[in-house]
Amino acid sequence: MTNIIEIKKLRKVYGDGVEVVALDDVDLTIKEGEVLSIVGPSGSGKSTLLNLIGLLDTPSGGEIWLKGQNITDATPTERARLRNKELGFIFQFHHLLPEFNAIENVMMPLLIAGVDKDEAKERAVALLEEVGGLEDRLHNRPNQLSGGQNQRVAVARALAAHPSIVIGDEPTGNLDSKSSDMIYELLRKLNRQMNQTFILVTHDMTMAEKTDRILRIVDGKIACEMRREGDGFVSTDLCQQD
Ligand SMILES: Nc1ncnc2c1ncn2[C@@H]1O[C@H](COP(=O)(O)OP(=O)(O)OP(=O)(O)O)[C@@H](O)[C@H]1O
Ligand SMILES: [Mg+2]
Repeated sequence: MTNIIEIKKLRKVYGDGVEVVALDDVDLTIKEGEVLSIVGPSGSGKSTLLNLIGLLDTPSGGEIWLKGQNITDATPTERARLRNKELGFIFQFHHLLPEFNAIENVMMPLLIAGVDKDEAKERAVALLEEVGGLEDRLHNRPNQLSGGQNQRVAVARALAAHPSIVIGDEPTGNLDSKSSDMIYELLRKLNRQMNQTFILVTHDMTMAEKTDRILRIVDGKIACEMRREGDGFVSTDLCQQD
């Protein structure tokens, strides 16, 4: 499998006066088609790492390579192009467009990608059916939907344009365990069908244990890495205990 993302000595320091080292020289390689989960305590740097991988923020040091291209110093235009073409985002605060209904929100990335309107609508409706729980709610706007329903719309939107990498920050954070399972199964199905890569920050260990690899981040460093082997996981590093 080829490496879709390579991260070398990635560093992020926030603040001018009092500095916070949010990421401390992280090295990480992610294979194409891998489903990776990232766990760790609050404030450990998980979202910071996702935001850097997702080209939503710039590092203080180190390098990020995407599909063999060093994108660390890419121009804002190039970053925007890569975000649209390669990446799909699922956040806990889903940032849906308030004036558009569920179908229109999911259609948006497809229309931006130049997909014909009828085809975009068809694909949006099909995906919204797959994420479930939105029967008869497809024409409602975000403020007319529940938190969990909006989250499903956000999942459908992130997947719509078939991005090669899907990044999720607590992608099922608002959902009950049955709905979370349903979303995870959909992500897995797409992963198998299209070899999409998934990077998921989660507090839900039941979900993490279904992925191919679990990274545990503590104080801005990778404290532990566990890889799936058969039905279980093996640690590939010296794992710290909490
Ligand atoms: N914009 C910012 N300015 C200053 N400090 C920040 C900023 N964003 C994050 N931090 C700090 O960086 C550290 C890592 O934050 P991050 O959001 O990556 O944590 P996290 O692991 O995602 O936590 P959580 O599980 O609570 O979401 C924290 O100490 C946080 O306070
Ligand atoms: Mg976070």
